[in-house]
Amino acid sequence: MADALVARIENVSLSFGEHTILRNCNLPVVEGAITCIIGVSGAGKTTILRLLDGLLMPTSGHVYVEERDLSTLNEREINDVRRSISLAFQFAALLDSLTLGENVALPLRENTTMSEREIQQRVHAALDAVGLSHAANNLPAELSGGMLKRAGFARAIVTQPTLVLYDEPTTGLDPISVHLITNMILRLRERFGGTAVVTSHDLPSIYEMADYMAMLFEGAIIAYGPCDEVRRSENPIVQQFLAGSDVGPIPI
Ligand SMILES: Nc1ncnc2c1ncn2[C@@H]1O[C@H](COP(=O)(O)OP(=O)(O)O)[C@@H](O)[C@H]1O
Ligand SMILES: [Mg+2]
Repeated sequence: MADALVARIENVSLSFGEHTILRNCNLPVVEGAITCIIGVSGAGKTTILRLLDGLLMPTSGHVYVEERDLSTLNEREINDVRRSISLAFQFAALLDSLTLGENVALPLRENTTMSEREIQQRVHAALDAVGLSHAANNLPAELSGGMLKRAGFARAIVTQPTLVLYDEPTTGLDPISVHLITNMILRLRERFGGTAVVTSHDLPSIYEMADYMAMLFEGAIIAYGPCDEVRRSENPIVQQFLAGSDVGPIPI
Protein backbone atom coordinates (compact mmCIF):
# COMPACT_ATOMS: atom_id res chain seq x y z
CA MET A 1 0.00 0.00 0.00
CA ALA A 2 1.21 3.51 -0.76
CA ASP A 3 2.25 5.69 2.18
CA ALA A 4 -0.42 8.06 3.47
CA LEU A 5 0.37 11.69 2.67
CA VAL A 6 -0.21 14.74 4.85
CA ALA A 7 0.52 17.10 2.00
CA ARG A 8 1.79 17.11 -1.55
CA ILE A 9 3.13 19.55 -4.07
CA GLU A 10 2.04 18.71 -7.58
CA ASN A 11 3.56 20.14 -10.78
CA VAL A 12 4.25 23.42 -9.03
CA SER A 13 5.98 26.28 -10.76
CA LEU A 14 6.46 29.69 -9.21
CA SER A 15 7.68 32.93 -10.74
CA PHE A 16 8.09 36.42 -9.39
CA GLY A 17 7.86 38.61 -12.48
CA GLU A 18 10.40 37.25 -14.92
CA HIS A 19 12.29 35.36 -12.24
CA THR A 20 11.35 31.66 -12.10
CA ILE A 21 11.93 30.28 -8.62
CA LEU A 22 10.41 26.79 -8.87
CA ARG A 23 10.03 24.60 -11.95
CA ASN A 24 7.46 21.84 -12.13
CA CYS A 25 8.13 20.54 -8.63
CA ASN A 26 6.55 17.39 -7.19
CA LEU A 27 6.96 16.52 -3.54
CA PRO A 28 4.96 14.08 -1.43
CA VAL A 29 4.98 14.65 2.34
CA VAL A 30 4.58 11.22 3.91
CA GLU A 31 2.60 11.02 7.15
CA GLY A 32 4.67 10.41 10.29
CA ALA A 33 7.97 10.77 8.40
CA ILE A 34 10.71 13.37 8.34
CA THR A 35 11.27 14.68 4.83
CA CYS A 36 14.47 16.70 4.32
CA ILE A 37 14.84 19.19 1.51
CA ILE A 38 18.46 19.74 0.60
CA GLY A 39 20.11 22.11 -1.85
CA VAL A 40 22.45 25.10 -2.02
CA SER A 41 21.39 28.57 -0.89
CA GLY A 42 18.89 30.08 -3.30
CA ALA A 43 17.74 26.68 -4.61
CA GLY A 44 14.16 27.34 -3.41
CA LYS A 45 13.97 25.40 -0.13
CA THR A 46 12.31 28.11 1.98
CA THR A 47 9.93 28.83 -0.88
CA ILE A 48 8.70 25.22 -0.77
CA LEU A 49 7.96 25.59 2.95
CA ARG A 50 6.08 28.83 2.35
CA LEU A 51 3.95 27.08 -0.28
CA LEU A 52 3.15 24.23 2.12
CA ASP A 53 2.16 26.78 4.74
CA GLY A 54 -0.14 28.61 2.33
CA LEU A 55 1.93 31.81 2.63
CA LEU A 56 2.61 31.73 -1.10
CA MET A 57 0.51 30.43 -3.98
CA PRO A 58 2.07 28.72 -7.00
CA THR A 59 1.98 30.35 -10.41
CA SER A 60 0.85 26.96 -11.75
CA GLY A 61 0.26 23.53 -10.25
CA HIS A 62 -1.28 22.59 -6.91
CA VAL A 63 -0.44 22.35 -3.23
CA TYR A 64 -2.58 19.92 -1.26
CA VAL A 65 -2.68 19.80 2.52
CA GLU A 66 -4.76 17.01 3.97
CA GLU A 67 -6.35 16.52 0.54
CA ARG A 68 -7.43 20.15 0.26
CA ASP A 69 -6.14 22.11 -2.72
CA LEU A 70 -4.96 25.38 -1.16
CA SER A 71 -5.59 27.34 -4.38
CA THR A 72 -9.33 26.60 -4.15
CA LEU A 73 -9.69 27.84 -0.57
CA ASN A 74 -10.68 31.28 0.61
CA GLU A 75 -8.70 33.14 3.26
CA ARG A 76 -10.73 31.78 6.17
CA GLU A 77 -10.37 28.20 4.93
CA ILE A 78 -6.62 28.63 4.42
CA ASN A 79 -6.33 29.91 7.98
CA ASP A 80 -8.15 26.79 9.14
CA VAL A 81 -5.65 24.58 7.31
CA ARG A 82 -2.76 26.66 8.62
CA ARG A 83 -3.79 25.93 12.18
CA SER A 84 -2.68 22.31 11.68
CA ILE A 85 0.69 23.38 10.28
CA SER A 86 3.54 25.03 12.08
CA LEU A 87 6.41 26.81 10.44
CA ALA A 88 9.60 27.05 12.50
CA PHE A 89 11.44 29.78 10.62
CA GLN A 90 15.17 30.13 10.15
CA PHE A 91 15.23 33.14 12.45
CA ALA A 92 12.62 32.55 15.12
CA ALA A 93 11.82 35.86 16.77
CA LEU A 94 10.48 35.84 20.31
CA LEU A 95 8.90 38.95 21.79
CA ASP A 96 11.55 40.63 23.96
CA SER A 97 9.14 41.82 26.60
CA LEU A 98 7.56 38.41 27.32
CA THR A 99 9.07 35.53 29.26
CA LEU A 100 9.89 32.33 27.42
CA GLY A 101 6.79 30.65 28.86
CA GLU A 102 4.57 33.55 27.78
CA ASN A 103 6.09 33.52 24.29
CA VAL A 104 5.40 29.80 23.91
CA ALA A 105 1.84 30.27 25.16
CA LEU A 106 1.06 32.92 22.52
CA PRO A 107 -0.09 30.60 19.68
CA LEU A 108 -2.50 28.91 22.11
CA ARG A 109 -3.89 32.20 23.39
CA GLU A 110 -4.29 33.55 19.86
CA ASN A 111 -5.73 30.48 18.11
CA THR A 112 -7.54 28.38 20.69
CA THR A 113 -10.06 28.74 23.48
CA MET A 114 -8.06 26.59 25.90
CA SER A 115 -8.33 27.24 29.60
CA GLU A 116 -5.39 28.77 31.44
CA ARG A 117 -4.74 25.40 33.05
CA GLU A 118 -4.59 23.57 29.70
CA ILE A 119 -2.34 26.29 28.29
CA GLN A 120 0.10 25.94 31.18
CA GLN A 121 0.17 22.15 30.73
CA ARG A 122 0.84 22.44 27.01
CA VAL A 123 3.56 25.06 27.52
CA HIS A 124 5.21 22.90 30.14
CA ALA A 125 5.15 19.83 27.85
CA ALA A 126 6.56 21.81 24.91
CA LEU A 127 9.35 23.38 26.98
CA ASP A 128 10.15 20.01 28.49
CA ALA A 129 10.41 18.46 25.01
CA VAL A 130 13.12 20.97 24.06
CA GLY A 131 14.90 20.80 27.43
CA LEU A 132 13.96 24.31 28.54
CA SER A 133 11.51 23.79 31.42
CA HIS A 134 13.97 25.46 33.76
CA ALA A 135 13.97 28.66 31.69
CA ALA A 136 10.21 29.29 31.48
CA ASN A 137 10.46 32.53 33.46
CA ASN A 138 13.49 33.91 31.65
CA LEU A 139 13.33 36.74 29.15
CA PRO A 140 14.64 36.07 25.61
CA ALA A 141 17.65 38.34 26.25
CA GLU A 142 18.73 35.91 28.98
CA LEU A 143 18.88 32.90 26.60
CA SER A 144 21.80 31.72 24.45
CA GLY A 145 21.53 31.37 20.65
CA GLY A 146 20.97 27.61 20.83
CA MET A 147 18.36 28.05 23.57
CA LEU A 148 16.53 30.66 21.48
CA LYS A 149 16.36 28.22 18.58
CA ARG A 150 14.93 25.52 20.82
CA ALA A 151 12.49 28.08 22.25
CA GLY A 152 11.31 28.79 18.70
CA PHE A 153 10.66 25.06 18.25
CA ALA A 154 8.74 24.84 21.51
CA ARG A 155 6.49 27.61 20.24
CA ALA A 156 6.13 25.85 16.88
CA ILE A 157 5.02 22.57 18.42
CA VAL A 158 2.95 23.79 21.35
CA THR A 159 -0.22 23.60 19.24
CA GLN A 160 0.67 19.96 18.40
CA PRO A 161 0.43 20.55 14.65
CA THR A 162 0.00 17.69 12.19
CA LEU A 163 2.80 19.11 10.07
CA VAL A 164 5.88 20.97 11.32
CA LEU A 165 8.07 22.82 8.85
CA TYR A 166 11.61 23.51 10.03
CA ASP A 167 13.60 26.01 8.00
CA GLU A 168 17.32 25.36 8.44
CA PRO A 169 17.06 24.46 12.12
CA THR A 170 20.78 23.81 12.54
CA THR A 171 22.32 26.52 10.38
CA GLY A 172 24.91 28.61 12.17
CA LEU A 173 25.03 26.48 15.30
CA ASP A 174 28.01 24.78 16.92
CA PRO A 175 28.28 20.97 16.48
CA ILE A 176 26.92 20.23 19.95
CA SER A 177 23.83 22.38 19.41
CA VAL A 178 23.39 20.78 15.97
CA HIS A 179 23.36 17.37 17.64
CA LEU A 180 20.93 18.55 20.35
CA ILE A 181 18.54 20.02 17.82
CA THR A 182 18.68 16.99 15.53
CA ASN A 183 17.80 14.74 18.45
CA MET A 184 15.12 17.14 19.54
CA ILE A 185 13.42 17.05 16.13
CA LEU A 186 13.47 13.26 16.23
CA ARG A 187 12.14 13.23 19.78
CA LEU A 188 9.39 15.75 19.03
CA ARG A 189 8.24 13.59 16.16
CA GLU A 190 8.14 10.54 18.44
CA ARG A 191 6.42 12.35 21.27
CA PHE A 192 3.80 14.23 19.28
CA GLY A 193 3.61 11.81 16.35
CA GLY A 194 3.72 14.59 13.80
CA THR A 195 5.07 14.83 10.30
CA ALA A 196 8.00 17.12 9.56
CA VAL A 197 9.62 18.78 6.57
CA VAL A 198 13.12 20.07 7.29
CA THR A 199 15.28 22.20 5.01
CA SER A 200 18.97 21.88 5.65
CA HIS A 201 22.40 21.61 4.17
CA ASP A 202 23.87 19.98 7.23
CA LEU A 203 24.51 16.47 5.93
CA PRO A 204 25.36 14.56 9.15
CA SER A 205 22.19 15.90 10.74
CA ILE A 206 20.12 15.05 7.65
CA TYR A 207 21.42 11.50 7.55
CA GLU A 208 20.50 11.11 11.19
CA MET A 209 16.91 12.25 10.86
CA ALA A 210 15.70 11.97 7.25
CA ASP A 211 13.28 9.23 6.26
CA TYR A 212 12.85 10.83 2.85
CA MET A 213 15.08 13.27 1.06
CA ALA A 214 14.43 15.67 -1.81
CA MET A 215 17.15 17.60 -3.58
CA LEU A 216 16.33 20.99 -5.08
CA PHE A 217 18.57 22.39 -7.76
CA GLU A 218 17.85 25.70 -9.47
CA GLY A 219 14.19 25.43 -8.55
CA ALA A 220 13.67 21.83 -9.68
CA ILE A 221 13.41 18.71 -7.54
CA ILE A 222 16.06 16.55 -9.18
CA ALA A 223 15.92 13.64 -6.73
CA TYR A 224 13.39 12.34 -4.23
CA GLY A 225 13.07 9.10 -2.31
CA PRO A 226 14.00 7.26 0.87
CA CYS A 227 17.17 8.80 2.31
CA ASP A 228 19.40 5.80 1.48
CA GLU A 229 18.15 5.70 -2.09
CA VAL A 230 18.91 9.37 -2.72
CA ARG A 231 22.35 8.94 -1.14
CA ARG A 232 23.05 6.23 -3.72
CA SER A 233 21.72 8.35 -6.60
CA GLU A 234 24.02 8.49 -9.59
CA ASN A 235 22.82 11.97 -10.52
CA PRO A 236 26.08 13.99 -10.72
CA ILE A 237 24.45 17.03 -9.08
CA VAL A 238 23.31 14.97 -6.09
CA GLN A 239 26.71 13.30 -5.85
CA GLN A 240 28.56 16.62 -5.95
CA PHE A 241 26.33 18.14 -3.29
CA LEU A 242 26.61 15.15 -0.96
CA ALA A 243 30.38 14.96 -1.46
CA GLY A 244 30.70 18.69 -0.80
CA SER A 245 32.92 18.92 -3.86
CA ASP A 246 33.70 22.08 -5.82
CA VAL A 247 34.14 19.98 -8.96
CA GLY A 248 31.00 19.14 -10.92
CA PRO A 249 27.85 20.57 -12.47
CA ILE A 250 26.83 22.83 -9.55
CA PRO A 251 27.92 26.42 -10.38
CA ILE A 252 30.00 27.99 -7.60
N1 LIG B 1 9.41 37.25 -2.48
C1 LIG B 1 10.37 37.02 -3.41
N2 LIG B 1 10.47 37.79 -4.51
C2 LIG B 1 11.42 37.57 -5.45
N3 LIG B 1 12.34 36.56 -5.35
C3 LIG B 1 12.30 35.78 -4.28
C4 LIG B 1 11.32 35.95 -3.25
N4 LIG B 1 11.53 34.99 -2.29
C5 LIG B 1 12.59 34.26 -2.73
N5 LIG B 1 13.05 34.73 -3.91
C6 LIG B 1 14.17 34.14 -4.69
O1 LIG B 1 13.87 32.78 -4.87
C7 LIG B 1 15.05 31.98 -4.88
C8 LIG B 1 14.89 30.85 -3.89
O2 LIG B 1 14.84 31.39 -2.59
P1 LIG B 1 14.70 30.50 -1.28
O3 LIG B 1 13.50 29.66 -1.37
O4 LIG B 1 14.79 31.44 -0.13
O5 LIG B 1 16.00 29.58 -1.38
P2 LIG B 1 16.73 28.72 -0.23
O6 LIG B 1 15.84 28.69 0.96
O7 LIG B 1 16.97 27.39 -0.86
O8 LIG B 1 18.02 29.44 0.05
C9 LIG B 1 16.20 32.93 -4.58
O9 LIG B 1 16.81 33.24 -5.81
C10 LIG B 1 15.52 34.14 -3.99
O10 LIG B 1 16.26 35.30 -4.25
MG1 LIG C 1 16.13 29.30 2.91
